Amino acid sequence: MVELTVVGNPGHRRVRFFTAAAVAAGLATPTVLPWRDVLTGAAAPPAGTLVRIDSPGEDAEVDRLLRGAHEPARHGEIVGLAAGHAGLRRALTRLASGGATLLNQPADVATLCDKRRCHALLAAAGVPVPAALPGVTGYAGLRAAMRRAGWTRVFVKPAHGSSASGVLALATHGSRVVATTSVERDGGRLFNSLRVRRYTTETEVAAIVDRLAPDGLHVERWLPKAGLADRVVDVRVVVVAGRPTHAVVRAARVPITNLHLGNARGDLAAARAAVGPTGWAAAMATCERVAACFPGTLHVAVDLMFLPGWTRHAVAEANAFGDLLPGVLDEDGRDSYAAQAHVILAGWRPAVGATREAACVT
Ligand SMILES: Nc1ncnc2c1ncn2[C@@H]1O[C@H](COP(=O)(O)OP(=O)(O)O)[C@@H](O)[C@H]1O
Ligand SMILES: [Mg+2]
Repeated sequence: MVELTVVGNPGHRRVRFFTAAAVAAGLATPTVLPWRDVLTGAAAPPAGTLVRIDSPGEDAEVDRLLRGAHEPARHGEIVGLAAGHAGLRRALTRLASGGATLLNQPADVATLCDKRRCHALLAAAGVPVPAALPGVTGYAGLRAAMRRAGWTRVFVKPAHGSSASGVLALATHGSRVVATTSVERDGGRLFNSLRVRRYTTETEVAAIVDRLAPDGLHVERWLPKAGLADRVVDVRVVVVAGRPTHAVVRAARVPITNLHLGNARGDLAAARAAVGPTGWAAAMATCERVAACFPGTLHVAVDLMFLPGWTRHAVAEANAFGDLLPGVLDEDGRDSYAAQAHVILAGWRPAVGATREAACVT
């Protein structure tokens, strides 16, 4: 029987859910390899096993090791994102070198955790994505680039962020600005909060952008999103083995829809009805196209936006670790982990070598 290893944070729901799904599907109980041990070099996946690389997130010590820092970050602090990504790339390279078969290719994970690279890859593959403003390195340059482009509304995202960390929805009118974000300021430092707030002075917004900028920014045109009732929505779609299987509508009274920010799951049937069968099929084809950019990777999660009127869609981002959708089932009654276990059991293996950005793990 195939041996499975999960590289993850032991005890985390992702690891527990996948383990339970694998066992329920009839696979061998996966061995859990803690990220901490992988990062200290104390452990590596045995050759010949199938390895699922899970999120290193939500563990202060793992975060410290990834960043190569002496001290753990203060709880929720947005710090060292570029160093963390460099550490992740190094760890992925090590994971790839041991003779195990990886269910998610290191180059894919590295790209998916880099919003600028991922956006460029998707755009080149013909996936509809918001237009981007490259080369922004600070607030003054951002405003200048916006003026040149004729844009008044943008999304500013840390290049290596996730879970809305450091994301700003910025609307401008001359020197008047409104930035909507979950960022909380404390002294000169930035923290994630669970509350979305608005900053309305240029001094504050510039301070936030300039603090985030050294670690890399990805700036996109702010696309208006379609709504249901009094909320705007987007759809998180999990694509397993190339097929869109699970979808959740995320409905928000603010432009940032991430569910941990107090936003609600919305009515998928209502969204699908609003889009119509042809539009929905086109949107799912887009999600397949996103996944096809990562052929060596078992699952990819797509944040899919519909424009008002529901006739057009665009991809806000693709995620390497976006498959935690508790209670959401596919048409076969499987959750996202059961669906993955099922295709592994049925023989799915990565198309190694087909990865488009093999060169990006350095
Ligand atoms: N260009 C955009 N226009 C409008 N809304 C956006 C845009 N980009 C992102 N969003 C919204 O902001 C949220 C967070 O952005 P996302 O790119 O998914 O980053 P994160 O990795 O932090 O989740 C998304 O859920 C989406 O609804
Ligand atoms: Mg997202």
